[in-house]
Amino acid sequence: MRTVDTLRSVLRFRSIETDPVERRLARAASVEDLRRIARRRLPGGVFDYIDGGAEDERTLAANRAAFATTGFRPRVLRGLAKVDTETAILGRPVPYPLVLAPTGFTRIADPEGELAVARAAARAGVPYTLSTLSTRSIEEVRAVSDGRLWFQVYAWRDRGLVREMVERAAAAGYEALVLTVDTAVLGRRERDVRRGFSLPPTIGPGTLVDGVLHPGWTWAFVRSEPIRFANVVGREVGDGAAPVTLADYINTQFDPELSWADVDWLRSVWDGPLVLKGVQAVEDAVIAVEHGVEAVALSNHGGRQLDGAPAAFSLVAPVADAVGDRIELICDGGVRRGSDIAKAVAAGATVAMAGRAYLYGLGAAGERGVDRVLDWLRTDLVRTMSLLGAGTVADLDRTLLDLR
Ligand code: GLV
Repeated sequence: MRTVDTLRSVLRFRSIETDPVERRLARAASVEDLRRIARRRLPGGVFDYIDGGAEDERTLAANRAAFATTGFRPRVLRGLAKVDTETAILGRPVPYPLVLAPTGFTRIADPEGELAVARAAARAGVPYTLSTLSTRSIEEVRAVSDGRLWFQVYAWRDRGLVREMVERAAAAGYEALVLTVDTAVLGRRERDVRRGFSLPPTIGPGTLVDGVLHPGWTWAFVRSEPIRFANVVGREVGDGAAPVTLADYINTQFDPELSWADVDWLRSVWDGPLVLKGVQAVEDAVIAVEHGVEAVALSNHGGRQLDGAPAAFSLVAPVADAVGDRIELICDGGVRRGSDIAKAVAAGATVAMAGRAYLYGLGAAGERGVDRVLDWLRTDLVRTMSLLGAGTVADLDRTLLDLR
């Protein structure tokens, strides 16, 4: 009798979840869990394109390691009734210090692609940066979002095309331009080289087995409209109707001669704020101030360009010391948790920027996966600030970090 009573007191059966997406989400407690689920769901080539970095992936690992090896110095007994994560970026409020990074070809992770990410970002109130190499166009993304949208610019050799895209972004009410400056040529992503990965992905002898082993993804991929570089559909630069390797595309279409004069040119054709993404040295951040840009994103393109480049987080303090408050700083690379955002801001960044984190959510569970990631990043940040004794974003400073 006692056994039955004891058992009755402890046995709990969870109701069975019939929705497969919810089932997947219920098993995940962190972005890293969603990464593992995405790895199972996506074909190997697609997962590796998202997950991988350049050459030996040292910079990819360094981005994460820089956060992992920096501890906190929490303060206690500060009588905090509540934590306020609101701050501002580019002069407008944001509910917590985060911006979503541009990522190319987002529809390979989920057919809704950029539309899903833009909707989730608008719900969370954080800006979303649409990539030039997006698989939904500037206008399609604006049509589903009344949130803050930024547009990432690559320097096409054809500057007329850049100008046209800038005008389209302005007409669609995009708030800022984000010029990527770390891609003179494409970094050598050896996972993609080994797999012969192309964009859009092809299904052929080499990838057929991969496709069959990932039926959920393959079925969704073949049922949705073809993946195209949506901003240049029908243009002679190539819109992905014929699959290409990213290296061939970027190395033939983008201009390696990009210079500070082009930054001034972009300024002259765009009235709004300008962000330079891919600054990796204190000296360049100082030059950016002289050229009057509003913000720099300290970024090594998620470890996908120059292997051996410094971890983004390691640049924050020295750059902040050099530029003061003359320019806003965005820390891009390796952000997986709200505690990473807290570290970036405490070191001197205005906001953090995350790309892979939301792509893992998208690949694992579609739009709801992105919602989940954004919610975790926010609630993690609230908890971290609470445990640090920091009641506001302004309270996050270097005294709270163990920057040995
Ligand atoms: C595109 O910008 C990429 O990093 O793959």
